[in-house]
Amino acid sequence: MNGFEETALGLFEERFSGGTELFFAPGRVNLIGEHVDYNGGRVLPCSLSLGTYAAAAREEGVIRLASADMPGEEVRLALSELASLPLEPAAFARFGWAAYALGVAAQLIRAGYSFGGFSMAVCGSLPRGSGLSSSASLEVLTCAVVSGLYGLGLDGVTASKLSLAAERECAGVNCGIMDQFVCALGRKDCALLLDTHTLEHGYFPFDLGENVLLIMNTKKPRRLADSKYNERRAECELALRLINERLEACFPSLCTVTPEALAEAKDALPPAVFRRARHAVTENARTLAAAEALGVGDAALFGSLLSASHASLRDDYEVTGRELDSIVRAAEEQEGVLGARMTGAGFGGCAIALCRKNAAREAVRRITAVYKAETGLDCEIYTAETGDSPFGRAL
Ligand code: GLA
Repeated sequence: MNGFEETALGLFEERFSGGTELFFAPGRVNLIGEHVDYNGGRVLPCSLSLGTYAAAAREEGVIRLASADMPGEEVRLALSELASLPLEPAAFARFGWAAYALGVAAQLIRAGYSFGGFSMAVCGSLPRGSGLSSSASLEVLTCAVVSGLYGLGLDGVTASKLSLAAERECAGVNCGIMDQFVCALGRKDCALLLDTHTLEHGYFPFDLGENVLLIMNTKKPRRLADSKYNERRAECELALRLINERLEACFPSLCTVTPEALAEAKDALPPAVFRRARHAVTENARTLAAAEALGVGDAALFGSLLSASHASLRDDYEVTGRELDSIVRAAEEQEGVLGARMTGAGFGGCAIALCRKNAAREAVRRITAVYKAETGLDCEIYTAETGDSPFGRAL
């Protein structure tokens, strides 16, 4: 048992009773395919060895939740009360962190699954607020707990859809399906290529040869992320509508628009909206190229695609910001670094860099120093380790 499992179990024993079972759901890092999962594009994330652990047991008619991050606090709600809550953010806001777990339970009820109450003590190993999907991890974990305790036999696609519904309707974040999907279905030592339009997916060996993937936490809180996220979504919807109108076409999503069609419709789009669309179209192509590069072990090409993705997110999509640009530039300047980019929603959180193993130690030292000098912030840099997810092997 690792330290996080021990903490979850210790917390459970302190607060609750009953024969416990242990569960885990990972966080994620997205290698490439950013801000395209709500545009029907392809994404290439990995599930991490970092994630959220739970010790859980059945209860009679009530849900009881405790978190190692919130000592002394217990959230308690009767199942009957949960079943009568409207599925909207205002009804769940008062539960704080527990809204994600309760949101999933509410979605399971709405979907017609039959289960009783449960108590669950959680402990996470993901750095907080870092953009490595702690919320999707907790949602998928709750699916695994309820399914495990009550033998619901949930599959990963269903678990990710229920988790996404909880995130959108109960937590009020109008995100795409990437995070929930990879937290439910990712596999250790693999990257998952997902077509978010069809949900077709496949696994690529996450084998970087002589290289490692660094995760660089800027420690910049992602305050702007939610409002700008919704703004970008709206701009993408506008772009799709204007392109279809101008070309009398019916592209179902922005990422299905070809580069030629985009060029033809350019005049119909306000300049900023055109750039958002150009990001979506080019990023979708880069993701496929990156998956192929990973498949044939072409690390140099993979690295250059990471850097091209960052440039597009910075210049066309405008979701990077000073800290992410600083850490990515610092990484790209180092000997042995093949490419770098922001990962996740942007405006803060984490970036990644592909780096030769034998140059990594010195690169980390120098990136940390340059970033500190430019921003005054102390970043944290870890080597990415992939991990299994609760539904990833069951298919
Ligand atoms: C957040 C969202 C995802 C995705 C990324 C950007 O992580 O939760 O659905 O849109 O941002 O790629």
